Amino acid sequence: MLSKPLGGDDVVLSAQRISKSFSGVQVLFSVDFDLRRGEIHALMGENGAGKSTLVKILSGFEPPSSGEIFLDGQPVKLPANGAAEALGIAVIHQEFNLAEHLTVTESLFLGREVARYGILDRAYMRAETRRVLDMLGSKINEGSVISSLSVADKQMVEIAKAISRDARIVFMDEPTAVLSRGEAEALFKQVRKLRDLGTSFVFVSHKLDEVTELSDRVTVLRDGQWVKTAPTAMLDGESIAQLMVGRELSSLYPKKSEPNVDEARVLSVIGVSTAHVRDAHFDLRRGEILGFSGMIGSGRTELMEAVAGLYPRSAGEVHIDDALMPAGDVQATAAAGLAYMTKDRKAKGLLLGADMTANLTLQSLDRHGRWGYLSPASEAKALARARRRFDIRVRDAGVVAGRMSGGNQQKLLLAKVMEITPKILIIDEPTRGIDVGTKQQIYHFIAALARDGCSVIVVSSEMPEIIGLCTRVVVMRAGRIVGVLEGDEITEQEIMRYSAGLKQKAVA
Ligand SMILES: Nc1ncnc2c1ncn2[C@@H]1O[C@H](COP(=O)(O)OP(=O)(O)OP(=O)(O)O)[C@@H](O)[C@H]1O
Ligand SMILES: [Mg+2]
Repeated sequence: MLSKPLGGDDVVLSAQRISKSFSGVQVLFSVDFDLRRGEIHALMGENGAGKSTLVKILSGFEPPSSGEIFLDGQPVKLPANGAAEALGIAVIHQEFNLAEHLTVTESLFLGREVARYGILDRAYMRAETRRVLDMLGSKINEGSVISSLSVADKQMVEIAKAISRDARIVFMDEPTAVLSRGEAEALFKQVRKLRDLGTSFVFVSHKLDEVTELSDRVTVLRDGQWVKTAPTAMLDGESIAQLMVGRELSSLYPKKSEPNVDEARVLSVIGVSTAHVRDAHFDLRRGEILGFSGMIGSGRTELMEAVAGLYPRSAGEVHIDDALMPAGDVQATAAAGLAYMTKDRKAKGLLLGADMTANLTLQSLDRHGRWGYLSPASEAKALARARRRFDIRVRDAGVVAGRMSGGNQQKLLLAKVMEITPKILIIDEPTRGIDVGTKQQIYHFIAALARDGCSVIVVSSEMPEIIGLCTRVVVMRAGRIVGVLEGDEITEQEIMRYSAGLKQKAVA
């Protein structure tokens, strides 16, 4: 076959017949892609479809196994260590890449520090950092050390870093996965502004509404193959989802069960306070799916960590069934049947250097061995079961967790938590970075758990998820519980009213 034309003068970056294998396992199959000047090009596909790999190849972080890349129509060999920055290419990685000990300003200027007369011009760099953060509507202090920032703020720094480099091509790999709606809108505003000035963006996201709202064109990958490239205006969310999964999707959410007020309380939280949470009261009933909604920073995660014994509480009581849990004792709550699934899978959830089996059975080793010896056969069985149940897709079963695609890492984490058959499951952002097909599987899975008598708390910033899944919803604002909604009250407007402070209910 002859090479295709490059797609006209306005194509800044084009890739032809890109293939990629990792240790003999092929993950991209002859993919074509082109990026025009001043466009936002969305890259869509299921978890493991190859989006991040393509992004890394096109931005010079991974060499392709074969295929050609053209910059301004000229063939280039991108330096495979991230040095493509000199060519005007910037990347916001899916998994953060920041050095934890630097300040925000230092991160932004890393490798291109500004000096005057041989002396670092700190005042200028600080002011410039402030300017970019303000532009993004971010309140982060430019002098803060990265390790002290929340996940959302780290993501903002990644974004600020890419934008501050005046790149003409910016790759954004799921930049909004951890952002609130407001933060995402501020980012989009900036992206549109830069696009209109001629910057080109490649945008990876699992949020279909964002893609249809923001992008000019969409390319869909499936199982490492190119499926379609089309103007966004010609597609809607549903057709993109269909192209991604290759089948029609039935309803995303399972049927809700009625809240049963007669069910036993399995968890009672009475007057719990922590550094940023004041006097929280709530309870959880058997077989219930209880949602926690609120703005990012409203204290949901800290409260859940205090309940799980991962974070100290300064006042209050946590009872599981009728037993009082000692404060800050994660072993005691785990022994009482509570499992906690963190949203921060990179820092706290998985051993990134270990394989799937080691991660899966880490907390349940006693089930897979006798007299201190692990049984590989038992572990292998557990892995096979987990892969089936959670549809974990890897082409190489021995891959280390850190090299799995983001969504598949999330599924592995869920599988690991389920290995201990918890009575109470707390999940923080269950579908962060997860594709629609898998989301559906996870929602149905959570509903099935609840039907079997497990009680589930879902902390989520995705409103449709809370509304579609939960039978009761607790809303937090500025460290306090400001309302508990049930039945018909669970609507987007109502939740917004509470989380924005327009409405408040006395909560006992
Ligand atoms: N360094 C690596 N070594 C081995 N396999 C890898 C490596 N990087 C990626 N892979 C594999 O390549 C495939 C594609 O992964 P990739 O991260 O590109 O998916 P993705 O489309 O970005 O998915 P997600 O939506 O979950 O982020 C996966 O099967 C993954 O396990
Ligand atoms: Mg990815």
